[in-house]
Amino acid sequence: MVVLLRKLRCYMTALLSSIIIVLLLYFQNSVLVFTDDSYGFISKKVQCACSICVTDRGNSHWFSERYDNKVPLLLNSTNSVLRANVSRWWKELQSNAGNYTEVVHQLFPLFPDKEHYSDAGPDRCRTCAVVGNSGNLLGSNYGPLIDFHDFVIRINKGLTEGYEKDVGSKTTHRIVYPESAVDLDNSTHLVLLPIKILDIQWLISAFTTKNITQTYRKVPSTIKANKDKVMILHPEFIRYVYDNWAEGHGRYPSTGFLTLIFALHICDEVNVFGFGATSGGIWHHYFEKILTSYETGVHAGKFENEIINRLQQENKILMHKGWT
Ligand code: C5P
Repeated sequence: MVVLLRKLRCYMTALLSSIIIVLLLYFQNSVLVFTDDSYGFISKKVQCACSICVTDRGNSHWFSERYDNKVPLLLNSTNSVLRANVSRWWKELQSNAGNYTEVVHQLFPLFPDKEHYSDAGPDRCRTCAVVGNSGNLLGSNYGPLIDFHDFVIRINKGLTEGYEKDVGSKTTHRIVYPESAVDLDNSTHLVLLPIKILDIQWLISAFTTKNITQTYRKVPSTIKANKDKVMILHPEFIRYVYDNWAEGHGRYPSTGFLTLIFALHICDEVNVFGFGATSGGIWHHYFEKILTSYETGVHAGKFENEIINRLQQENKILMHKGWT
């Protein structure tokens, strides 16, 4: 009888262990969530290793309707053929559009031909700071907080020298077009925003012949930047941001807005700095006193701001509005 009981206990322990192992395997990469509308716990697939993940789509229907994780973000040789509607729209933005196919052929012997940022998953927690150029950064003391992020993405001419206390000193990515390009250090990714084919031609020229010095205005013939860190935003991504996020407002999205949506696609947590007016309602750059305007006719600043505010309400980004 005692032997029988012992055997039974052994079987029960083995059975219980197997059940626990199966449950652990089943719930790996999942968390238990208590919801108001269900009386208990449900399992939920973890999208990333941060406490809140951008791509956790279940928590915002508004976001899910707009976010497309299949859209190509950056050009490479395997995704460079444009869909007819994208090609038409993109070419309409430019006068004297050159031959895209010919230009794109010259790109990838020169720059990295990779599929970037396809590493999203439950083990990654990539934090990003998107740093716009608003005067609301002055006096903010955000520098150390900005530099604490894995990626610090800056836009156009946004300087750091002399403003480190408020804007930080780290830059992992800088989004530019020829007219806004500045010298970069060796570790920063130059991310070109190609509004026109000539912008891609300028990029090639800046690293080779240096013979393009003029677009619709004077541009630098070359810039200091690491050729192996160059990336080019995909025209289809620009069109996607225009359709899904700017909802067709303006002619094409602003650099800041494109950068923010780009960050939503390559980061798990997005913190936004330097967007919007100062608390006194002034729109200017932190590094100069020239007033800026966001309702230019080209970009739909007001509408973009509404979307940015909504992204904050939906817990997809955290806005840091500064002090001044
Ligand atoms: O002026 P610029 O285009 O170089 O600024 C980069 C981005 O920073 C803008 O596209 C905008 O999103 C943001 N910005 C802002 N308020 C300002 C200046 C810039 O929101 N006063």
